[in-house]
Amino acid sequence: MSDNKKPEKITAIKGMNDILPADAPLWELFENTVHSVLKSYGFQKIVTPIVEDTALFKRAIGAVTDIVEKEMYSFTDAMNGDALTLRPEGTAGVVRAVIEHNLAYEGPKRVWYKGPMFRHEKPQRGRYRQFFQVGAEAIGFAGPDIDAELIMLCRRLWDDLGLENIRLELNSIGDAAERQAHRAELIKYFEANIDQLDTEAKNRLHANPLRILDTKNPAMQDLVNKAPKLLDYLQAESIAHFEGVKRILDHNNIPYVINPRLVRGLDYYNRTVFEWVTDALGAQGTVCAGGRYDPLIESFGGKPTPAVGFAMGIERLVELMKLAGEPADPASCDVYMVHQGEAAQMQAFVLAERIRDAGLDVVLHCAAATGAGSFKSQMKKADGSGAAFAVIIGDDEIANSTAAVKAMRGAEGEQQQASVPFDAVVDYLVDQIVGHDHDHDHVHYHH
Ligand code: HAM
Repeated sequence: MSDNKKPEKITAIKGMNDILPADAPLWELFENTVHSVLKSYGFQKIVTPIVEDTALFKRAIGAVTDIVEKEMYSFTDAMNGDALTLRPEGTAGVVRAVIEHNLAYEGPKRVWYKGPMFRHEKPQRGRYRQFFQVGAEAIGFAGPDIDAELIMLCRRLWDDLGLENIRLELNSIGDAAERQAHRAELIKYFEANIDQLDTEAKNRLHANPLRILDTKNPAMQDLVNKAPKLLDYLQAESIAHFEGVKRILDHNNIPYVINPRLVRGLDYYNRTVFEWVTDALGAQGTVCAGGRYDPLIESFGGKPTPAVGFAMGIERLVELMKLAGEPADPASCDVYMVHQGEAAQMQAFVLAERIRDAGLDVVLHCAAATGAGSFKSQMKKADGSGAAFAVIIGDDEIANSTAAVKAMRGAEGEQQQASVPFDAVVDYLVDQIVGHDHDHDHVHYHH
């Protein structure tokens, strides 16, 4: 550069996080656990685009919701003028795909997805503008059994992750006619107490009065607590459905709290809604939320198809795992290859590939511009890598066609070193690592 100014730093977008290698083991533990739990309930993976038609979210989530009114990353495609949006959630895209590919044609489907979602919220602990969800959608199931199954799937996940004190809040918001009857009473009630409403509530009074029940304003808690309860307006079918969900949960000893004020911030729900909440994360304590959305698919022109699902926030759950003292196993390898001289480097490359063929994880020391560095400095790297063994090749080893194999994890002074012919190194390492460590979990033999 001609002037002496340092180049301006470019940083990440506010509210959008890097997940650094130090946190990766915890994320992987979460992901592996959730994958195996979903698989154990018969869910299949679906991947939909991150960008969709803006109209999809407006119609699915609802025009008078926080997400659509003020949180969507919407933009015009400069190439063709299309109105596009970065997905704020996963259900709308899954529903679109289900209709587009006629996925429920052969019968009900259990699908799950994982990926980044985008909401232009005020960033704070547990609330980000890009965040990751794992979601599950059960498409084409009408009965209360699947609602209970989804809840039990979550319960199993918390158990498998070792997470305690996540409580289940449950409610039924009935169907459209029941909500209509309740809505009229609710508006009447709030109009009679109009002086106690804050500005936001006044704005919502006629557009979406149910959402007033969701207010966090302390001054309005007494008012909303005494408001007419939607649960009291449910008719026989909705009551039977809700009782059905509760009966299965009771039978399986799944504790829950009925929260009549739980209404959810998205418009597509009917009947069962639920949230998993913890007090350990401060204000953003909902780690998973979902419910039934029976009318949604038909409203998009699909055949009437009942459905229910949930989504969980991965950042919040990983944070909970950290608080629970989940050991963040540093990603370590089995073998670190140390070498000096060109012939040794060539041999190290060949040997590293053969050791990997046997299913072990190998880090091959990479040279700096000035060369591979001293044995001593390389051994320090080997130690820091967490490897169980260092395989060392220098001029003497090349001359003898042997490698020095050093155990890195024994107590000081007990770290054995053996001289092993190149041809025998793979068997030697497999015997030492797999033979002596029955818990070794990342060795997969290639048959
Ligand atoms: P949601 O309640 O909007 O529901 O989000 C589900 C979960 O995603 C929340 O409980 C929270 O853990 C996480 N989450 C939401 N917003 C943020 C954020 N800004 N930062 C960090 N985490 C966040 C849905 O998205 C529905 N699609 C769930 C569903 C699926 N209902 C039926 N099927």
